[in-house]
Amino acid sequence: MKLELVCGDITAAVAGQVDAIVNAANSTLLGGGGVDGAIHRAGGPEILAACREIRTNRWPQGLPAGQAVSTTAGKLACRWVIHTVGPVFSAENDQQEILRSCYLNSLAVADVLGATAVAFPLISAGVYRWPKSDAIAQAFKAISGADTQVQRVLLVLFDIATLRLAQSLLPPQA
Ligand code: APR
Repeated sequence: MKLELVCGDITAAVAGQVDAIVNAANSTLLGGGGVDGAIHRAGGPEILAACREIRTNRWPQGLPAGQAVSTTAGKLACRWVIHTVGPVFSAENDQQEILRSCYLNSLAVADVLGATAVAFPLISAGVYRWPKSDAIAQAFKAISGADTQVQRVLLVLFDIATLRLAQSLLPPQA
């Protein structure tokens, strides 16, 4: 699998390059700010309608952190949005495994869909306050160790400083 780093808005920077875009959602699946807000704004109401249906029929209590589900991408230039819920950073308890599960479960959903190219934002590194360097490290660890049919993963960093940090932490790729 090829892991590439991209800088920009995930709703535009990878248009036409991926089958699925991953959303850094919250458990309600009913939208929010950051990536979540951008995806719902750009993708349109179809995405929220599909999220409501998932809440009603599969996750009435909300999507637990680490889990992933897929919906239509609405007006976005890809086929699906994969919604995952990152853990909120806590210095007291280590939730690195849950954060890695966001990537692993999103890739597992991509495999079920038949998506071979997937774009991720840096899960939990915004509102959920995860330190960027460790958010990047967990993303790399999960993605590089994943048993998946996905051939191309784009990690989309929202600003140049975060892109540079990711570039400095990227392990040499085989
Ligand atoms: N494209 C790419 N990356 C983005 C975008 C965007 N349009 N907007 C924000 N980011 C970056 C942030 O800078 C951060 O590095 O994505 C990373 C994740 O930030 P958030 O979107 O805040 O996601 P998260 O930290 O997982 O918090 C999720 O925030 O938006 C709400 O509804 C969401 O409650 C949920 C929580």
